[in-house]
Amino acid sequence: MSEILTDNNNKVHVENMNFYYGNVQALFDINMDIAEKKVTAFIGPSGCGKSTFLRTLNRMNDIIDGTRIEGKVLIDGSDIL
Ligand SMILES: Nc1ncnc2c1ncn2[C@@H]1O[C@H](COP(=O)(O)OP(=O)(O)OP(=O)(O)O)[C@@H](O)[C@H]1O
Ligand SMILES: [Mg+2]
Repeated sequence: MSEILTDNNNKVHVENMNFYYGNVQALFDINMDIAEKKVTAFIGPSGCGKSTFLRTLNRMNDIIDGTRIEGKVLIDGSDIL
């Protein structure tokens, strides 16, 4: 049985997000919704930014010196940045 995902299923909402290690930009204009209680996978070549993106969701990039983030990261509607 198929299921229609509406905006209400979104746990995470990422909007116009850019991320930098110093002067080097690692993530470019990320826009994404992640549904609650669904499996979401990130697939891509080594160095494409999967781990960097995941760390933007739990703010573990904050402990890396010289990093900077722009845009919005909402969890349950609250901007965690
Ligand atoms: N602490 C850091 N300081 C500077 N640059 C970093 C740092 N961590 C990652 N990078 C760079 O950011 C980019 C994205 O790396 P990231 O580790 O997020 O990729 P990944 O998709 O998780 O790769 P892998 O599949 O190897 O785990 C790469 O160019 C990487 O060299
Ligand atoms: Mg990784």
